[in-house]
Amino acid sequence: MEWTKEQRYRTLNDVSEEEIQGLAKLVSQCPWRQSFHIQAETGLLNDPNGFSYFNGEYHLFYQWFPLGPVHGLKHWYHTKSKDLVHWENVGMGIKPSNEFDSHGAYSGSGIEHDGKLYFMYTGNTRDEDWNRHPYQCLAVMTRDGSIVKMDAPVIGEVPSGYTDHFRDPKVWKNGDFFYAVIGAQRENETGSVVLYQSRDLKDWKFMGEVKTGLGEEFGYMWECPDYFEIEGQGVFLFSPQGLKAVGDSYQNIYQSGYVIGSLIDLENMELKHGAFHELDRGFDFYAPQTTVDHQGRRILVGWMGLPEVDYPTDRNGWAHCLTLPRELTVKEGKLIQQPVDELKLLRGKKVETSQRVENEAICLDNFEGEVYELLAEFSDSNTEEFGLELRVGENEKTVIKYDAVAKKVVFDRSRSGESFAEEFGTVRKCTLDADKISFRVFVDVSSVEVFVNDGEEVFTGRIFPGKNSNGISVFARGGHTNVKAVKWEIK
Ligand code: FRU
Repeated sequence: MEWTKEQRYRTLNDVSEEEIQGLAKLVSQCPWRQSFHIQAETGLLNDPNGFSYFNGEYHLFYQWFPLGPVHGLKHWYHTKSKDLVHWENVGMGIKPSNEFDSHGAYSGSGIEHDGKLYFMYTGNTRDEDWNRHPYQCLAVMTRDGSIVKMDAPVIGEVPSGYTDHFRDPKVWKNGDFFYAVIGAQRENETGSVVLYQSRDLKDWKFMGEVKTGLGEEFGYMWECPDYFEIEGQGVFLFSPQGLKAVGDSYQNIYQSGYVIGSLIDLENMELKHGAFHELDRGFDFYAPQTTVDHQGRRILVGWMGLPEVDYPTDRNGWAHCLTLPRELTVKEGKLIQQPVDELKLLRGKKVETSQRVENEAICLDNFEGEVYELLAEFSDSNTEEFGLELRVGENEKTVIKYDAVAKKVVFDRSRSGESFAEEFGTVRKCTLDADKISFRVFVDVSSVEVFVNDGEEVFTGRIFPGKNSNGISVFARGGHTNVKAVKWEIK
């Protein structure tokens, strides 16, 4: 079904309770609803927003179009948690409601100030000719959880030299000042990021474009920028659109990644850094956002989905979920991403095994499951390739393996169940030179997140297998390997 503009931009006031109930019923009949990931009750979820630790709880919002699996009038939906694992649906966070966000409360960030949580976000508007006019807006949450929007935007104009693709403010504090990075498109249609400064989060001064080493042309738009400092280094994370696939890189429609180097030079607005790294080497990952919590941990959550791609759940009136939260650290000039420790709270019944595998695939007895965490450690390998087959059924399997000849980790979803997005390929790979390989995998009803070698690389992908495709196998081809595997049910 094609959605008209009118259908995409209806406000919730124009929608009857029966319509919402009808949609909720359709969603609940979907065989691929997730069990331990954040997902919307109806409609489409995209970017994580306003991720913060405030008043003893984690607050995490997401971009939400409630009325169907398409991009339309975006709201902020509010969830919160004490442990980053069990999330409570709080309700609507920010609703588009006035002339400054009439066509969507777009992405933005949260920061604590004066005992309140401030959200800076992009108000998306369109005029009669459907031209975009973005505003950067502010909303304030008090300790009782109520959120009030400020009447006027805090940045009402796009700085000169940039197009109306100007959005997604991410705020941080340095000394007496707040800073915001905002994704911007130059008039020559190349991507960039600009910097603003403020003392009070209300009055913002345009500082200029941030100089990076990425050159004048690195995609046509940078969405969802984020800057943070970790272990004495500066990290600039963003989602560039328009990079061409090269080798195993940039295979998805859009990318998300980072550069890391010295701390940002705020006076000269300059970042000195190394190469751009993709954050996730799988299929479904975009627009991540980080926060720092009360323990000083830097935590990242991404959107487990991509724009402009159809998913099988669309038929049931919903699309996408968020990734599990990952803790970031630095090793040898690269970010390491580990599932936050609290995810161990989900570990239920455990089974384990050790196997020597030689030119065979061994189906692990007692290991089957639809939803679980699995840790598989391979050692003493003398083989061309080895790995795991998950969600195995009669004609289905999802393969995660190490190609020891090419020295690549491979995620193959070509037989994972109902196919989708095949125009972007069904296999993802990345180079990893290591003697020992471990895969820590979180499998939900319709997703797989693989943390390779304690978070050196991560592969995330949605899969849509049949309910009975529950087998788990280990295999080796062209030699032998030893594997130690532990599986936990999710409780
Ligand atoms: C990224 C993005 C952001 C924008 C939001 C709208 O996925 O396009 O740039 O603020 O989604 O939902």
